[in-house]
Amino acid sequence: MKIIHANDYAGMCRKAANIISAQIILFPNSVIGLATGSTPVGVYRQLIEWYRKDDLDFSTVHTVNLDEYCGISPDHPQSYRYYMNQNFFKDVNIPAGNTNLPNGLAEDFDMECTRYDHLISELGGIDLQLLGIGHNGHIGFNEPNEAYGKMTHRIQLKQSTVDANARFFEDSSQVPRYALTMGIRAIMQAQKIVMVANGEDKAEILYRAVYGPVTPSVPASIIQLHPDVTIVADTAALRKFPTET
Ligand code: GLP
Repeated sequence: MKIIHANDYAGMCRKAANIISAQIILFPNSVIGLATGSTPVGVYRQLIEWYRKDDLDFSTVHTVNLDEYCGISPDHPQSYRYYMNQNFFKDVNIPAGNTNLPNGLAEDFDMECTRYDHLISELGGIDLQLLGIGHNGHIGFNEPNEAYGKMTHRIQLKQSTVDANARFFEDSSQVPRYALTMGIRAIMQAQKIVMVANGEDKAEILYRAVYGPVTPSVPASIIQLHPDVTIVADTAALRKFPTET
């Protein structure tokens, strides 16, 4: 596992965007797994800036997002499809048909999860998966104590996740209680994982994910077992790490 230290949020975003850029420049047909949440917003902003400078071309890239809320439409401002369109897709030249998220409005969620897993395997699997980390250690929406063996599935959000995400909604009663998420097994099948984390409030959980036991009670701890993980984090999030990192 590589741990890359950035001085601040802007530095974290630039370094993570550099890694994603290198992947796309070297392998223009890459399948990139994308994440939402507040952490990656600046990573997307940086990629857009480099696209505008003609340093990046997304025309042959495919993307698959980790997760989507159940029961809200793609044009709902808090849906992850809307987030991706607004924060990234609308500003780069990726063909709309190359961008994928689970469909949170599917009539049959089991069928939708199977469709999503097939789609990822038809694309040849994920070359690079970008991950954030939730305060309780969730990755995608894989909440603590989920079985590690799952592919894409529907999950009930923990109250702590509903509370954490309530800041994006009018109030917490508006936050969907269910989501579709790529499972831990699906995430672990990515060739490379790049996890981003910033801020004091992520220091404890990031430390437990990297130095604690590998346990479903901290879903992100599974990445210790992945052969190609890079963590890009700022000084505040790395506060508990040994100083040589
Ligand atoms: C959400 C997303 C995760 C994300 C996490 C952390 O619940 N499903 O993919 O990593 O929140 O979000 P933030 O970056 O805002 O702390």
